[in-house]
Amino acid sequence: MEGARPVRAPRGTTRTARSWQTEAPLRMLQNNLDPQVAERPDDLVVYGGTGRAARSWAAFDAMVRTLTTLKDDETMLVQSGKPVGVMRTHEWAPRVLIANSNLVGDWATWPEFRRLEQLGLTMYGQMTAGSWIYIGTQGILQGTYETFAAVAAKRAAAAGRYQDGGGTLAGTLTVTGGCGGMGGAQPLAVTLNGGVCLIIDVDAARLRRRVEHRYLDELADDLDDAIARCERAKAARRGVSVGLVGNCATVLPELLRRGVAVDIVTDQTSAHDPLSYLPEGVDVADWHAYAAARPAEFTDRARASMAKHVEAMVGFLDNGAEVFDYGNSIRDEARLGGFARAFEFPGFVPAYIRPLFCEGKGPFRWAALSGDPNDIRVTDEAILDLFPDNDHLHRWIRAAQDKVAYQGLPARICWLGQGEREKAGARFNDLVASGQISAPVVIGRDHLDCGSVASPYRETEAMADGSDAIADWPLLNALVNTASGASWVSIHHGGGVGMGRSIHAGQVTVADGTDLARQKIERVLTNDPGMGVIRHVDAGYDLATKVAKDRGLRIPMAEQERPATSLVALTEREGPSASLAALTEPEGHPASLLAQTGQKRPTASLAALPIPRGSRASFTSLWAALEPIGRHPGTGGYRRFAWTAQDAQLRDWFAAEARARGLDLTTDRAGNQWAWWGDPDAALAAGRPGVVTGSHLDSVPDGGAFDGPLGVVSAFAALDALRERGFEPSRPIGVVNFGDEEGARFGVACAGSRILTGALAPDRARGLTDADGVTMADAMARAGHDAGLLGRDAETLRRVGAFVELHVEQGRGLADLDRPVAIGSSIWPHGRWRLDLAGEANHAGTTRLADRHDPMLALAEVILTARREAGRHGCVATVGKVRVLPNGVNAIPSAVSAWLDARGPREAAVREVAAAVAAVGGGVLAEESFTGDTAFDAELVKRLAALLDDAPVLATGAGHDAGILASASIPTAMLFVRNPTGVSHSPAEHAEADDCLAGVDALTSVLADLAR
Ligand SMILES: NC(=O)c1ccc[n+]([C@@H]2O[C@H](COP(=O)([O-])OP(=O)(O)OC[C@H]3O[C@@H](n4cnc5c(N)ncnc54)[C@H](O)[C@@H]3O)[C@@H](O)[C@H]2O)c1
Repeated sequence: MEGARPVRAPRGTTRTARSWQTEAPLRMLQNNLDPQVAERPDDLVVYGGTGRAARSWAAFDAMVRTLTTLKDDETMLVQSGKPVGVMRTHEWAPRVLIANSNLVGDWATWPEFRRLEQLGLTMYGQMTAGSWIYIGTQGILQGTYETFAAVAAKRAAAAGRYQDGGGTLAGTLTVTGGCGGMGGAQPLAVTLNGGVCLIIDVDAARLRRRVEHRYLDELADDLDDAIARCERAKAARRGVSVGLVGNCATVLPELLRRGVAVDIVTDQTSAHDPLSYLPEGVDVADWHAYAAARPAEFTDRARASMAKHVEAMVGFLDNGAEVFDYGNSIRDEARLGGFARAFEFPGFVPAYIRPLFCEGKGPFRWAALSGDPNDIRVTDEAILDLFPDNDHLHRWIRAAQDKVAYQGLPARICWLGQGEREKAGARFNDLVASGQISAPVVIGRDHLDCGSVASPYRETEAMADGSDAIADWPLLNALVNTASGASWVSIHHGGGVGMGRSIHAGQVTVADGTDLARQKIERVLTNDPGMGVIRHVDAGYDLATKVAKDRGLRIPMAEQERPATSLVALTEREGPSASLAALTEPEGHPASLLAQTGQKRPTASLAALPIPRGSRASFTSLWAALEPIGRHPGTGGYRRFAWTAQDAQLRDWFAAEARARGLDLTTDRAGNQWAWWGDPDAALAAGRPGVVTGSHLDSVPDGGAFDGPLGVVSAFAALDALRERGFEPSRPIGVVNFGDEEGARFGVACAGSRILTGALAPDRARGLTDADGVTMADAMARAGHDAGLLGRDAETLRRVGAFVELHVEQGRGLADLDRPVAIGSSIWPHGRWRLDLAGEANHAGTTRLADRHDPMLALAEVILTARREAGRHGCVATVGKVRVLPNGVNAIPSAVSAWLDARGPREAAVREVAAAVAAVGGGVLAEESFTGDTAFDAELVKRLAALLDDAPVLATGAGHDAGILASASIPTAMLFVRNPTGVSHSPAEHAEADDCLAGVDALTSVLADLAR
């Protein structure tokens, strides 16, 4: 192209422009054309076919000239790569406004665009080419890493597994095709997530190149060798990538035929263009000549091969693999090739990325204008420091430091969400201000982001409300970034998927260390991803609605009615609601006096009892601080598992709340936390052991908010209420947080209280393993707790004179009785058994019904019998876990193991249910655990009943730490708070605010009575 010459952005701290706000776009424009960055710099092409940074070299020169002299109250306007005007604006306005490749709807086609381009009237801006924030191949590697991480998270969630950051691909095999410019990022992205990747490409040179660049680990000699390498690595749970030269249309059906256990299948061959997909039977050497000479015939053959390729992908889908289209249109091409089931697997955005978009997560990137890699190193550390619990982010940053070579100005990319980006931006600005970063940093993103693009074949495919093609969103995105103080803002058409198929917007903001920049950064980096959240709220995604509420994003259409469903919402209300008004303390009638004197309460309903304002506020703020920890953005359920990062956060929360109240904090040998008001040892010496309340903070996979935490929050709130009333305890009051009550990670429920009381032997506890093979001992060590200490803790137990656990009810007892609070009398006898049923594996299609030995039939009998017998005996019974071998959709199983959980009011009845099940199953029933009836302390229950004389007394079928303490002969009782739906161990678990406060009040009275 005329005027071509090598361009490279200046480095260092000396500016050519008047300020960093204009120096930054100047350097980034030049950086996009750096030969290290751009694919064809002489033609001004940066990436993505013909994505350009400027329309012509003359236009480039004019932009450089203008930026060099532009003042801080002026704005340069760029129309498709050419500067067309400078306008007087103000210092909060962007210094550059860009519109690239936009065409009126009916004209938005490639032929029309090319005609206009020929006339010199427009240019193709792609996404980050024409908006001057391309950073080379790091972007695609990170995006691919994120996608595979989201696949891992989805698989972990489906399997009910915990994992910090949502799971890894350890122990899985991914099969994919296409090791080209973009697809070549796949093997490294899979291994960074811990998985095994088999990547197939017809072109050996493409595979070799990726080995040289360390994106691909090994090349296999042939298919047998490839399978052997992958299976070895998978069995050893090593992250390894293996390249195989071959045609996907041949190799995938063969893998399927051989029954290779593949977990994930996708593809990044250049299927979007049939001339770029090599059909079976054509040599790589003949490819381009053949395609050019007979394009129609070549297209037909390519589509026929794609139909075979996709048919095999659907075969893997039928076998239970995770299969997705990775944005290369292979489904549509296979459909055109005659395969009708091509669209049975989803595109990657609706399958994995949309939940991230609902949270405002997307590709956040930044570049160091100094050119000094150390500046990026400083920002990397800042990110690691800001988000210490995000393992997945840490893994990426460390891997990027090791594997990614900078192209042009040093830069970094990672995915951050709404609420996170502004923190990072503000920190970067502070680092520039303090000189720890040597020159300003630009902060931008891809146009492929949560709220900045309308692209019905990719980012907005299959929106919940059908709004895929509504392009108002990217336009609003550009407008709000302009209004918020971004340094340059762009609106483009056609990026990623071509003319007529997308509209998208971008922003870049400069962190120059000034206060003004900090203010702009905070607004832009809040509002820009905020667009993603509100865009998905509008489309009807519940997750986005929740995120908007948590982050305080205003949604006008939702403000007409603000129901007080959430506890947090209560504090936000201006006046007391009708129900709260009923709970305010009547003058001259302090509840504490009644309790302290041991007087009986008037027989009012608990819901109407007086609650002091202070304890209500304390309950609400305790709850608000705890609520976000461990909540999974995709499901809205909680994943708070023992000895994980979330667990550490919960423990920190507990310690901080204890400290804030001046309580003495101890951790026992089992790792349970205790916070004491008063000295338990001195009191013990005086013969007055303490009164303890509390519960646990961990959860089942995707559990509800209340199971456990309600007891701990209520404990602190009750303490606050006692203090507010001026109560002086005559024996110490303790609050306890028992670890690992749910047993979600290591399989043993109430592990913390069992180890404490000696019911679980320390050696057995240490050796328990989670789904990833990590032992409890290792997990504890990683969390900084010495597993060597595990064991019965007599010293701690002696301090506990009585224990009262408050818990949300896990059934409908109180709802049926229409009461807010109950007293627990006992925990039902409870058994768990494993039943092994043998069968004979055989083909699902060819084996006659009469010839089958199908253990699933026996299992069906078992399940029905369990239900029927439980009903007959007044018990409950569940078959909630089943293991099937080989677990294929088209195979009769060879063996089934099922777990029976049965509970009931009498041990004999529970055992009868199990015996009946064993009789029909015809297999072996092995008892895994049995706990007899656990009655709570009769005296204590009586005392509570006298105190709370309106409260019903109920037995429960759910296990609790209280049961373990009762079995260890500690006087124990429980309080239950109404759960209106009775649903528990699910995100739908609920308790109304008024009932929670009634629970706090009841607990306050109990503690006052016991510690008086
Ligand atoms: N996330 C996204 O949405 C996204 C991002 C980037 C690329 N893509 C799409 O992914 C595809 C790949 O992009 P790229 O830049 O890597 O393309 P590329 O042309 O650089 O690489 C494609 C590779 O596929 C190989 N190939 C072709 N036919 C084959 C066959 N039958 N069997 C095995 N290998 C075969 C080629 O040899 C080549 O190495 C494109 O369709 C692109 O549009 C999607």
